[in-house]
Amino acid sequence: MYIDVKPLYTQIRSELLKRIEKLRREPKLVVVTYKPDSSTISYLRSQEKSAKRFGLDYEIIEGKTPQHVIKLLRSFSDDEEIDGIFVTHPLPDVDEMEVFENLDPRKDIEGRHPYNLGMLAYGEEFFAPCTAEAVIKILESYTEIIGKNVVIVGRSNTVGKPLSLMLLRRDRSATVTVCHTKTKNLSEFTKKADIVVAAAGRPELITKEMVKENAVVIDVGINVTENGIVGDVAKEVSDIAKVTPVPGGVGKITTVLLMEHLVKAAERINF
Ligand SMILES: NC(=O)c1ccc[n+]([C@@H]2O[C@H](COP(=O)([O-])OP(=O)(O)OC[C@H]3O[C@@H](n4cnc5c(N)ncnc54)[C@H](OP(=O)(O)O)[C@@H]3O)[C@@H](O)[C@H]2O)c1
Repeated sequence: MYIDVKPLYTQIRSELLKRIEKLRREPKLVVVTYKPDSSTISYLRSQEKSAKRFGLDYEIIEGKTPQHVIKLLRSFSDDEEIDGIFVTHPLPDVDEMEVFENLDPRKDIEGRHPYNLGMLAYGEEFFAPCTAEAVIKILESYTEIIGKNVVIVGRSNTVGKPLSLMLLRRDRSATVTVCHTKTKNLSEFTKKADIVVAAAGRPELITKEMVKENAVVIDVGINVTENGIVGDVAKEVSDIAKVTPVPGGVGKITTVLLMEHLVKAAERINF
């Protein structure tokens, strides 16, 4: 079966609308991208739609070189009209840490600055990466996490690694295993998991044989293929487990959380 994330989306959305009404001006989000791939372009499209729906100011700017990206981030960090800055991932041929050090952590609404990522180790999630936070919110609204065996497939700084820290927080206390391309016998890990989070960016990597019956499977993948957008989890997994759909699952919650982070940044600046 599929997990319906709409009630969670509706709840986040209605709370957010009330907060937006109280702001003195329209919050502004600037997206800085560099050589965006097809999944990034697809993600930005849904971001833009969502920003418009909430009446938020949204602009995309493409950097010409890595140095140009850094220059843009410095100037947007100093610009008082801009509340939040989102830098797309991946950034080909770029040292991401060097880039993010040039971003004001108070405007880092995707939680990629070393300060915001480091805060996760202390259990502080003011700006956690939105996709990792979306996975947490879906799990918290759907199932018990404490004591569960969670296997995350993928160790990126935007999803796998921050998510592992967030799941280890004492109030969540999951037992976490993080897998990657050097993991031997991936299915041995996923088969034992109560919860599988697939964040590898590989179409239909997780098959029915790799998942135990009734497991909760969170599909983070957004893969643009000739058959349209597909996740990292094969369709037939939903015959035996509870799976988030792609599209309309993690991505839906991620996008609304990014808007929530923008409003949080604007509230901090405006009050
Ligand atoms: N739904 C959303 O809102 C949302 C948001 C962001 C990203 N995404 C999607 O989520 C996916 C992952 O994104 P990302 O930015 O984390 O990707 P990424 O930076 O490319 O990282 C992918 C991770 O998956 C691991 N991996 C790749 N192939 C694997 C395999 N066959 N077996 C085991 N591990 C494997 C990689 O291992 P190594 O470290 O060993 O290379 C790496 O750690 C993409 O499809 C992306 O489009 C979705």
